[in-house]
Amino acid sequence: MPGFLADLTGSFATSAAQNPTVAIMEAAYADAGLDVRYINCEVPPERLGDAVRGAIGMGWLGFNCSIPHKIAILDYLDELAPSAAIIGAVNCVINDNGRLTGENTDGQGFVNALRTLIDPAGKRIVVLGAGGAARAIAVESALAGATHIEIVNRTVARGEELADLVASRTPSSASFTAWAGTYAVPGGTDVLVNATSIGFFPSTDTPDVDFSTVGPGMVVADVVANP
Ligand SMILES: NC(=O)c1ccc[n+]([C@@H]2O[C@H](COP(=O)([O-])OP(=O)(O)OC[C@H]3O[C@@H](n4cnc5c(N)ncnc54)[C@H](OP(=O)(O)O)[C@@H]3O)[C@@H](O)[C@H]2O)c1
Repeated sequence: MPGFLADLTGSFATSAAQNPTVAIMEAAYADAGLDVRYINCEVPPERLGDAVRGAIGMGWLGFNCSIPHKIAILDYLDELAPSAAIIGAVNCVINDNGRLTGENTDGQGFVNALRTLIDPAGKRIVVLGAGGAARAIAVESALAGATHIEIVNRTVARGEELADLVASRTPSSASFTAWAGTYAVPGGTDVLVNATSIGFFPSTDTPDVDFSTVGPGMVVADVVANP
């Protein structure tokens, strides 16, 4: 029988005020009948260590890290999940009695959602972008069995680095295309995902893609929810 002491989780980020995760998580906890709270915390970079020690001290079950802590948090962890180690960033930390394990659920969430439409195994996937979200999606899709990941990015060095990472650390092949002008999606592509920040609220821009090259049966996904 629940008492007056809920289990605690939350998020460390700055700025935190526009982050809607607290509403999503508390609704999910309530729906699942869990006596757990989610606390949205404004944590600047110089306070990350204090926040982590506070979470351990208060016995939090774990916490999310968002901008700008996804890489800095690595310094505080005891263990990294395999995909988080390849991605090089963590957005979810599990606290096991003071022992912290880092996971990256950005890409796992994408793959789980994708599987409701199409199994990434054996598929060719085009990822627009090479930032944090693109890294997680490309690595997790490759680990889920995609045969080829095509990275398309405006900044060449960043895009090449991600394609090299996928090719060298996962069983999938990977290539890079510089995004200069309108992008034509190659024939045989099964999944096209916008993992850039284009269209992030309040912007209503769309990626510069020749949408006449999006064929029937191709799954198109977007990491940006607007609003
Ligand atoms: N749905 C989810 O679970 C989830 C999770 C994490 C993030 N997100 C969202 O994903 C988006 C990206 O986040 P992030 O952390 O990956 O950001 P990030 O690390 O800053 O990367 C941004 C990416 O977008 C590209 N980009 C931005 N503006 C562009 C433009 N005008 N033309 C072409 N490319 C452009 C950048 O290209 P350059 O390398 O050339 O700069 C880079 O590849 C954000 O909107 C974030 O809210 C969603």
